[in-house]
Amino acid sequence: MNIAIISGSHGLIGSECVSFLADKMDLIIGIDNDQRAYFFGKEASTEWNKSVLENKYQNYKAYNFDIRDYSNLEKIFNEYGKDVKLVIHTAAQPSHDWAAKEPITDFTINANGTLNFLELSRLFCPSAIFIFTSTNKVYGDLPNYLPLVELEKRWEISESHPYFKNGIDENMSIDNSKHSLFGASKVAADVMVQEYGKYFDMKTAIFRGGCLTGPQHSGAQLHGFLSYLMKCAITGNEYTVFGYKGKQVRDNIHSWDLVNMFWHFYKSPKSGGQVYNAGGGRFSNCSMMEAIELCEEITGKKMNYKYADNNRIGDHIWYISDLSKFKEHYPQWNHQYSLEVTLSQIFENMKQRV
Ligand SMILES: NC(=O)c1ccc[n+]([C@@H]2O[C@H](COP(=O)([O-])OP(=O)(O)OC[C@H]3O[C@@H](n4cnc5c(N)ncnc54)[C@H](O)[C@@H]3O)[C@@H](O)[C@H]2O)c1
Repeated sequence: MNIAIISGSHGLIGSECVSFLADKMDLIIGIDNDQRAYFFGKEASTEWNKSVLENKYQNYKAYNFDIRDYSNLEKIFNEYGKDVKLVIHTAAQPSHDWAAKEPITDFTINANGTLNFLELSRLFCPSAIFIFTSTNKVYGDLPNYLPLVELEKRWEISESHPYFKNGIDENMSIDNSKHSLFGASKVAADVMVQEYGKYFDMKTAIFRGGCLTGPQHSGAQLHGFLSYLMKCAITGNEYTVFGYKGKQVRDNIHSWDLVNMFWHFYKSPKSGGQVYNAGGGRFSNCSMMEAIELCEEITGKKMNYKYADNNRIGDHIWYISDLSKFKEHYPQWNHQYSLEVTLSQIFENMKQRV
């Protein structure tokens, strides 16, 4: 039997994994306790997605377990053992601002929770491919010290810099910068996933996400950039732009494109705890101002937003992921979803949820 275990299976990336794998695996085990509602309030709950997945896929089985609870997770790994061929760990406290509210909750979910999955995989299914969703926040605020230039609607990196062509690659240091507590707990997890690859020779891979996005996101002010922006564009609720003149640039990758990266790795895994930057890259990115304009175009309405001078602590001014390493390892893979298509999908889905 081929079984996949997906943590955070009702969130954006986890649920995309379930849909993507439903016709490729015999059984998909999901683990999600709707912790997102605890972090960001009821409006960010992912419970709606649980029923969607359960109704759609006969081979999907959900467990309402907390990833901090080792003994409950052990029951699952013990039951399915070596039939587990793939573990995708996406559950997390995902917001850098929220982490400062409850550092221990953040760390025990992001760092200890990841260690639970690694150790259980090592004990019960050591040959399984192990995929971890890390973040560009592991680079802390180092990207803010790149030579940036101000354009009319966005910040951009100087054309003479090597990152201009493709963006920031995996060689940027993760050391000695301001990460936010979230960035620090993800660094701990990221390095641990690398270590299980290098020390125990397991097939682990780390995907350091830029902005991950898609119609299944349950956007909230503190997490889910485009999803929350579109939600405000539809409802007319006030959106706050934090600092950098609204010209901060993010690259945005559709959840399907990211999960397709996971799939390519699964089909032909590399050893040694591989690290890949994963985002929209030069193909799909926007500044805050450009994103607002796009939302206005799609909804046909002016957005209700205000500007606050203070940027979020450690927030990136300009971040574009360089995907060259992944593309070199997997030349068949490419982005499928442009920013415009992704935002239109978010619009269609969000209309029915607000
Ligand atoms: N969305 C982004 O822009 C982004 C960017 C970079 C990295 N990431 C990383 O990608 C991963 C997935 O992000 P997402 O946007 O799909 O997040 P999400 O919040 O949509 O999904 C995560 C899911 O995990 C669940 N969860 C959280 N803590 C849990 C716990 N203790 N026990 C059980 N379930 C728990 C939540 O209820 C939620 O359904 C995360 O690890 C995040 O840090 C996300």
